[in-house]
Amino acid sequence: MTERRQFRAIKGTRDILPPDSARWNWFEHTAREVFESYNFGEIRTPIFEEIELFANSIGAETDIISKEMFAWDESGTPVESTLQNHWMRKHLDKLARVDKQPVFANRMQPDLVVRTDGGISVVEFKRRTINQATIANIKEYRKAFREQFPGETSARLLLVFAEEPSEFVRRLAAANEVEIEVLSLSGYEPRQSLALRPEATASVCRAYIEHNMHALPGNQKLYYIGPMFRRERPQKARYRQFYQIGAEVLGQSDAPAIDAEVLEMLLVFFNRVGLTRTTLYINSIGDKNCRPRYVEQLRKELLKVKDRLKEDSQRRIETNPLRVLDSKIPEEQPIIEKLPRISDHLCDDCRAHFAKLKEELNLRGIEYKENWRLVRGLDYYTRTTFEVTAEGLGSQNAVCGGGRYDGLVELLGGPPTKGIGFAIGTDRSILSIEESGNSPKLGGLAVYIAWMGHASYPAAVSVARKLRAAGLAVELPPEEMKFKKSLGLADKLGARYAVIIGEDEVASRTFTLKRLADGDQKKLAEGELLEYLESERRR
Ligand code: HAM
Repeated sequence: MTERRQFRAIKGTRDILPPDSARWNWFEHTAREVFESYNFGEIRTPIFEEIELFANSIGAETDIISKEMFAWDESGTPVESTLQNHWMRKHLDKLARVDKQPVFANRMQPDLVVRTDGGISVVEFKRRTINQATIANIKEYRKAFREQFPGETSARLLLVFAEEPSEFVRRLAAANEVEIEVLSLSGYEPRQSLALRPEATASVCRAYIEHNMHALPGNQKLYYIGPMFRRERPQKARYRQFYQIGAEVLGQSDAPAIDAEVLEMLLVFFNRVGLTRTTLYINSIGDKNCRPRYVEQLRKELLKVKDRLKEDSQRRIETNPLRVLDSKIPEEQPIIEKLPRISDHLCDDCRAHFAKLKEELNLRGIEYKENWRLVRGLDYYTRTTFEVTAEGLGSQNAVCGGGRYDGLVELLGGPPTKGIGFAIGTDRSILSIEESGNSPKLGGLAVYIAWMGHASYPAAVSVARKLRAAGLAVELPPEEMKFKKSLGLADKLGARYAVIIGEDEVASRTFTLKRLADGDQKKLAEGELLEYLESERRR
């Protein structure tokens, strides 16, 4: 006998069942209503993308990218055969054998390195826009090649591109003694590293660029609802598949009024869903003019106290000193409190932007607290950053995070663009609403149809359909039951009314309507029944 295995949801994921799912729908529906009243439109992006999209935006050194990605490689078309069909055919006489591949430090491995007897090496690039990463790679490929094939001083490095490289790349290649050949690899699907999205801002920027949305009139105001994936250690209010509702504004303006309106919309939404015991924290982390100088100063000060910091913070002094400010370790707190503050190092433009933002928030009656340590765990932020915390969640109490990311679209190969947005954690928000006792009473079963005797069945089917068409939730038992049992089930299902149809009712062409809360009962004709229950629904 084969042993039967019971399956369970993977750790860090969960099922959302009725009636909880009704609360989720209500939460998301309310977000749509509020966001659309601010003229935001919904964008739906895929839940997986190229891993490089996330690495280039969120930052390779962040926890999300370095530890928490669900990623895998797609095989694509074998590049060997593709090359054989194209370039190799042309150069067949020069080719010898496929040799070992150099190992590259970053994830952007070429698909194949072929060495020829003549000391020529072919590096095949993945098809993608020729960008900063490609330029960096030329240097890296050259270095890796030299390290792995020492003594091959006469070896030439030949880069094969599937697309025309820019003039800049050509010049850079020439300066590095690298030859370039462009091939049209028709039918070739490159191998790709893909990842489940850990967040959606990068995807929204990718879509903005891909669909030329900068050419559309006005700012692009987009919102999204859906699951995100991070391989974090599961705990209360922290999941590996969790849900976000996010909003982004992309366009030419970085007016602080946009930041303020986005925050107003967020708080109007939280208010509408009863998430009221919250605190909004704001900060400005400067821009590319003032932040590098501040970070250097911070690094210097951190080096002075390095011995008193724990391992994570010590490492971050090198990789990302700003993240030390995020530390929650009690012993580090007095040290961090004495570090230089970004607010004292903002350039004039950033300082003015932050002052104006606070003015705009005051104008809207929005309460906030400044928190100079709010640097956030993603690298793309400039200037405004913010977070909303809620009560009742323990250590995972951030229900929303966001900020400005001017320059991110450009970094991803798009035109100069300003951006700001936020993402609400749905799981945590709903948990907090439940714990505060603010959950609304939603829907539920309105009518249970208790029928008995075959003669009453057609009337039961017909009235169920009419009540459902009128917008009521109706349960029609598929099999005949004794009245006592049937009404018992109606009670257990939490129905508000039972419509009873038996021999008497069929004979008199009426229905008995019973209010289950108090047992009150009356006989009604079909028209009266529909009218009565419809008016009940509206109450
Ligand atoms: P984030 O701060 O990484 O920002 O995530 C936003 C919210 O998602 C958090 O405040 C939290 O409520 C929720 N969240 C994050 N991780 C988990 C988890 N493992 N379990 C449950 N909830 C979680 C972003 O994602 C940015 N994309 C926000 C943004 C949009 N910035 C600009 N535009």
